[in-house]
Amino acid sequence: MSLKLLLNLMITALMAVLLVIGVALTIHNSQENIRAELESTSALALHLIDKELLYFADEIAEQKLKTPFSLSSLGQIRHLRVEYYDARGNLRDSNQAEFAAAIHNPPPSWFIYLMNVFSRDVEPRKRVIHANNKLVGEVVITPDPTYEITEVWEDSIGMLKLVGIFFVAVNVMVFWAVGKALRPVDQILEAINQVEQGNLDARMPPFRLPELAQISVKFNHMAATLQKSITRNHKLSQQLLNLQEEERKSLSRDLHDEIGQSLTAIHADATAIVNASVLDTPVNQSAKAIVTVARQVITIVRHIVERLRPETLDKLGLKVALEELVSTWQQRYKMQTCELQIASDLAGVPEMVSITAYRVVQECLTNIARHANAKRVTLDLWIESGELAIVVQDDGCGFNPRLASGFGLTGMRERVTGAGGELEIDSNLAKGTTIMVRLPLNRAFA
Ligand SMILES: Nc1ncnc2c1ncn2[C@@H]1O[C@H](COP(=O)(O)OP(=O)(O)OP(=O)(O)O)[C@@H](O)[C@H]1O
Ligand SMILES: [Mg+2]
Repeated sequence: MSLKLLLNLMITALMAVLLVIGVALTIHNSQENIRAELESTSALALHLIDKELLYFADEIAEQKLKTPFSLSSLGQIRHLRVEYYDARGNLRDSNQAEFAAAIHNPPPSWFIYLMNVFSRDVEPRKRVIHANNKLVGEVVITPDPTYEITEVWEDSIGMLKLVGIFFVAVNVMVFWAVGKALRPVDQILEAINQVEQGNLDARMPPFRLPELAQISVKFNHMAATLQKSITRNHKLSQQLLNLQEEERKSLSRDLHDEIGQSLTAIHADATAIVNASVLDTPVNQSAKAIVTVARQVITIVRHIVERLRPETLDKLGLKVALEELVSTWQQRYKMQTCELQIASDLAGVPEMVSITAYRVVQECLTNIARHANAKRVTLDLWIESGELAIVVQDDGCGFNPRLASGFGLTGMRERVTGAGGELEIDSNLAKGTTIMVRLPLNRAFA
């Protein structure tokens, strides 16, 4: 969960707790006020009725006995329900009969429930009325808290609206302020991501906060050091690869010129002995054996020479060398089919690009033969925008390039990056492997 969201949630939770406490306090205080007010109003009403009764006790005319207090004209008394019952208990008069003031926005039932649930009911008060020494009826005063509760509800709604606006404003401000304060974190993450993806030119901007400014300086220093060391490593491996190629070249030349020549001489001399000696004599047989072994060793040396430094690459160019490589490879691993498509004229490809391309294809084909178990292999080469593009595709078992740990792929990547190019491996366990390489043609080699 992001820090922004966490802070907003914490504020919301705090506000909700405060709101619940506020509502609880409001309800509690209101209950006390309402109770006190209802009791005092009932007492006052009773007092006035008592006074009225004293004054008129003996003079209530028979015709007035039905409604002696004209209660229906007291409809505006909001907190009390005043009712008059005759001697038989029938309701004769009430202040709520006609004029009860309507409540326009009644509070919700849960609020009324909360207001009532914890408060003790205020008991109704009664006065028995006698006239002419006869019981004529009874006045009942019942406190009615509905209007008070409505007032409290209206006040609370006003307060809730205010709290709501405050709550939204605080959340927006916190969101904005935290977002502003965390903006450098996004920039820091962006720079780290860039470096992770191999863009070593990525740097952090200077920050105003001293702690972040230090992170920026240290990170930039670290990225620069990493960049230098990786460049140095690339240069070193490129030099090693160049040296290796040179070594191979001179080794293959020595093998070809020295050993090859000597073997050819041995083969020629032994053949001469075979021709000069009498058939089936020990000398003749030994000379024949020497001829056979010399021929075998010549073939082996030729293979070694070819592998070390393909003569065709130097003499006839990349296209022919690749065609020869593919054909030898197909003969060796008979079940494989390989389509080689060379879409451009590769005559002008520089020597180092040629040898890099040749080694890449060589390693790809060796890997396919050793690991892929493929049925179909395609090899495409073309020149585009000053680059030699190579795509080797097989329909084999595929692999996870992140987990692959051999010298072949590592060496291939080193060669390609050392040549200023790019290598991409797209392998899928179900579909096989595609290796894409791009090599710039006009790059100065280390
Ligand atoms: N075309 C492919 N199909 C399936 N798996 C492959 C393919 N190419 C490479 N791999 C897998 O990647 C691994 C690493 O290959 P890499 O060429 O680096 O090493 P290697 O071939 O095992 O040994 P070497 O160092 O002799 O080349 C291999 O062991 C193999 O599991
Ligand atoms: Mg390999």
